[in-house]
Amino acid sequence: MADTVILAYSGGLDTSVMVPWIKEKYGLDVITFTCDLGQGEDIEQIRQKALRTGAVDAVAVDARNLFVDCFVWPALMAGAMYEGKYPLATALGRPLIAKLMVDLARERNAKAVAHGCTGKGNDQVRFDVTFQTLAPDLKIIAPVREWKMSRPEALAYAARHNIPVEVKAESPYSIDQNLFGRSIEAGLLEDPWDEPPPDAFAWTVDPVKAPNEPEYVEIEFERGRPIGLNGRRLDGVPLIEELNRIGGRHGVGRIDHVENRLVGIKSRELYEAPAAVILHLAHRELETLCLSKQAARFKTLVSQEYADLIYNGLWFSAFHQDLAAFVASNQRFVTGHVRLKLYKGNAQVVGRKSEYSLYSKKLATYEKDDQFDHEAAKGFIRIHGLGQQTQAQRQLLRGGKPFDLPGLLTHGGESEPR
Ligand code: ARG
Repeated sequence: MADTVILAYSGGLDTSVMVPWIKEKYGLDVITFTCDLGQGEDIEQIRQKALRTGAVDAVAVDARNLFVDCFVWPALMAGAMYEGKYPLATALGRPLIAKLMVDLARERNAKAVAHGCTGKGNDQVRFDVTFQTLAPDLKIIAPVREWKMSRPEALAYAARHNIPVEVKAESPYSIDQNLFGRSIEAGLLEDPWDEPPPDAFAWTVDPVKAPNEPEYVEIEFERGRPIGLNGRRLDGVPLIEELNRIGGRHGVGRIDHVENRLVGIKSRELYEAPAAVILHLAHRELETLCLSKQAARFKTLVSQEYADLIYNGLWFSAFHQDLAAFVASNQRFVTGHVRLKLYKGNAQVVGRKSEYSLYSKKLATYEKDDQFDHEAAKGFIRIHGLGQQTQAQRQLLRGGKPFDLPGLLTHGGESEPR
């Protein structure tokens, strides 16, 4: 009996061709694995197609709740936004798919795992590093890295092996999508000077065509996690779906990014992620009420590290465990409501409130019930500025020198350009 490989199967041309190809080249029986992460495809149909392509078995699972609870929410709580722009939808999906493939490999006593990623992208890294971490004994097969087939060759191969190929026109882009966002790359996007063509977008309307009336949304968070939308308690999956719809119809969530890939190349990528953009914005805003100044400052460092580790495929690391522990603690008072206004491609926070808010009207107000101690400010400022005062006397202004900063007036009163 032949050994078995678990293949990450999307139902597309490449992964379909892989079923007979792996059998021919490696003599392995192929079990396909297809995962619903909210990409909006019928995974049962994909599973049936896998069987028709010659897979000895085909497994399809709905992992949407797992995806949201264990990947999307932690990333949101961490404020993980790669290079300040990309909410990481694709990058968050890969370690989950890889983990589920390892589980299936164990259950079926498979000896190998396979995926359809190219040798240029980040996705291969996320798959391989997860496999290598959780199951170093499994052989990793990445046919696209080795077969060097062009698209016409792949089509010919498919025809020879009676693989059903959809007649629908192939998208000019490379697209990956799940609940948290849609990633679009290649084709006409490869020139970063060119404006994205309208057909690159599928989830969001052109902001120019968005309604002329703004729409308000209110999001409720508990300990950093979204738990309600517009006054209604909602589980993660429906909450994100609903927010994608609302944001999408106002053209919110389009991102155009020249990003630094792990493999050393810059790549122009588009994303559509209405829910992700709105949720990150709202969450950050709630933190302005609920986190102390130091906690908020430090959190920005953690957010960046967190985003990098997700992007770079290091989800299953001790460093991630460390950061996640910090984030869970840091988020324990991030509970409350944020109200946003969506209008023609823009999402703007217009209100926020929390039972743990550190904002004190009595301290902030300029009206009569002001409780701030104005007298105390004087002594505080003397001490606060003492170090700088001393340094100016002893060093910077010593001997009557002018202050050495660009554009300042010199002693004589004339401005000295630098
Ligand atoms: N650049 C993004 C990332 O590395 C998106 C990748 C999209 N993948 C794809 N097969 N189209 O996460």
